[in-house]
Amino acid sequence: MQNKQVYDELVEKFEKLYGTKPEYVAYAPGRIEVLGNHTDYNEGYVFSAAIDKGTFFAVAKSDDDSCELTAADLMETARFTTKTVAPAKEMTWQNYVTGTFNWLFDGRPAEAPHGWKGAFLGNIPLGAGLSSSAALEMCTVLALSRLYGIEKDRTTMAKIGQKAEHTFAGCPCGLLDQASSMYGREGALVKSDFRTNEFETVSMGPSVAFMMVKSNAKHALVDGAYASRRKACEDAAQHFAGVLRHPVTHLRDVTMAEWVLYRGGLDETTAKRAVHPIGEDERVLQGAALLEKGDLKGFGALMFDSHESSRNWFENSCEELDAIVDAAKAIPEVYGARLSGGGFGGSCCLLVDPSAADRISAQITKEYKAKFGDEPVCSLIKPSEGAHLV
Ligand code: GLA
Repeated sequence: MQNKQVYDELVEKFEKLYGTKPEYVAYAPGRIEVLGNHTDYNEGYVFSAAIDKGTFFAVAKSDDDSCELTAADLMETARFTTKTVAPAKEMTWQNYVTGTFNWLFDGRPAEAPHGWKGAFLGNIPLGAGLSSSAALEMCTVLALSRLYGIEKDRTTMAKIGQKAEHTFAGCPCGLLDQASSMYGREGALVKSDFRTNEFETVSMGPSVAFMMVKSNAKHALVDGAYASRRKACEDAAQHFAGVLRHPVTHLRDVTMAEWVLYRGGLDETTAKRAVHPIGEDERVLQGAALLEKGDLKGFGALMFDSHESSRNWFENSCEELDAIVDAAKAIPEVYGARLSGGGFGGSCCLLVDPSAADRISAQITKEYKAKFGDEPVCSLIKPSEGAHLV
């Protein structure tokens, strides 16, 4: 469904449900992660982009403290009041919204002057690693902050969504997904520095595009794998803080050369985990220099290296994602390919020559099908505008 259709359907359903028009509607896109994997919570660097699919959140004031929230695709409604906001065990989709509402009011939603009626609808494929949950948080925070007349800058809004993930949805994610949704720009990559929280955009020429290839492998970050990777990175940072002579708070502070020389004392698994974000940081910085020179082949080679690092060191890839990257590597019009996002399933992100898109998707589909029996979903992605009120 196109964005305009999603918007129209949401507004129509809102009016039917609540007998009134929404006062505000906000839109926030999903994201692709292009280079820099699991670096955000290590205070490192990432290249990402907002995509041309997203989620709309429509809202209107209620007269008392009651709140109603409808997932317009399922037509399920959660009911609560500003005084009873808490993580839910049923209809868990509401946690992204209620968590965001909670932290917009610094954990005291009971202080909100009134409740609201809200509904949301989007077109981001779920479980594809395109951050549909961050998109929902970002359109929620934009619409609710406008409804209540609360002024927040975009980074603060991104952090509100991240806190909702941590405390209401149970995923200890970094800030990448929310920041990409907030800072995306049409035709551009977002280059993020998660130490300083500086977000710049870098234009991409018209001769390149991204293709997302969704495997059919399950992608679930709320189970323990994501958290255990994050813990290993934190343990490793602590080790390096003890053996290096300069300050280390995160793996951002450790170079590849230091990892080689000073990893003794770390158990093998923790050492393997640590080298991934360290290498990714270096690749993002190299990639920035290559992009400036217009060297897409060079940039793409770093994407392939990134995937190898996921496969061998961080072990957040899987057979299906490896097969997609291996198939992509043999196609001359694919400059680079790697898993995108948390990993353990989900999608691969390919940097491609768009004029060869059909051939690329046919070839990858053929090889994937021969191995796994089912077909992956290939779609061209246009880097797009970030979150905004409609
Ligand atoms: C998920 C998380 C992000 C980031 C990526 C991996 O998308 O939500 O914060 O850590 O994985 O780079």
